[in-house]
Amino acid sequence: MKNKIDEIRELFETDLAAAGDAEQVEALRIKYLGRNGLVTGLTRGIKDIDPADRPAFGKMINVLNKTVKTAIQEKQNGQAGGKSVDSIDLTLPGRKPRVGGLHPLSQIREEIKQIFGRMGFAIVDGPEIETDYLNFEALNIPKLHPARDMQDTLYISEELVLRTHTSPVQIRTMQNRKPPIRVIAPGRVYRRDTPDASHSPFFHQIEGLCVDENISLGDLKAILAAFTREMFGEGTRIRFRPSYFPFTEPSAEMDMWWESSKGGRWLELCGCGMVHPKVLENVGIDPDKYSGWAFGAGIDRIAMLKFGIDDLRLFFENDIRFLEQF
Ligand code: PHE
Repeated sequence: MKNKIDEIRELFETDLAAAGDAEQVEALRIKYLGRNGLVTGLTRGIKDIDPADRPAFGKMINVLNKTVKTAIQEKQNGQAGGKSVDSIDLTLPGRKPRVGGLHPLSQIREEIKQIFGRMGFAIVDGPEIETDYLNFEALNIPKLHPARDMQDTLYISEELVLRTHTSPVQIRTMQNRKPPIRVIAPGRVYRRDTPDASHSPFFHQIEGLCVDENISLGDLKAILAAFTREMFGEGTRIRFRPSYFPFTEPSAEMDMWWESSKGGRWLELCGCGMVHPKVLENVGIDPDKYSGWAFGAGIDRIAMLKFGIDDLRLFFENDIRFLEQF
């Protein structure tokens, strides 16, 4: 065994002296220290030695291993050294780390939260996997009610759905807090839609809810008018159109006048209305004493208008070239 160790050391010295360039030194490293290298082979052979002799030989092999490693490293450094020190170009610009930013939808969501925050609204949320009861029934949409057709739903089971709107957060809030209530609930919602420029199987809504004594449609109108002006500018025009939702009565659709190069038109911005007395009853709030309003607006819609984006899918493709423009 001792002979073998000496033999390999001598062979290595000859080889090392002969290795001229980086490639040859690398071949040398593999020959001695690689997976099937000569020194590696010695280490593996230890287990075949008489246990009494193992410590002594182990030590010798370790010394050889270290010698070979250091010699190769020194030779490699020597080869690279002279070259690399000279080749640092101090005039090159530094490498800039990439800095991330908020997704455009998050930016708009934060802006909306701030506007409503200034008007005294708290922020609440709820789960995206929701019970059929909270997504529909508590909102006055019983099973088999035709209004269910308004929202093509992704069911997880008989009793669980991917929430089709943020309105179930209305119910969750009213179950847990008593009036006065003034909250907004931003979040992701899901519908069975095929993606195109204006549809996606998931998108984002923001729910607003206000319940107190003597709350009227006038309050809803004032708050939404203030919101649109803050979001889109002082002169923004809005209008309310009668509509239908099972959980509000009366119900309305709020539109905003939108000027573009192709001329102006009314754009639907959110559904809204006075919280239906049945809904208040469902959560144990006395509809004779309290009244409230609610709205649900599309965050993606607002972001598309604000940023002048004509294809909803761009938000979800995660193309850095798109995202870094915001
Ligand atoms: N949840 C309704 C929708 O998604 C919008 C809405 C919210 C309407 C609150 C009225 C009140 O279409």
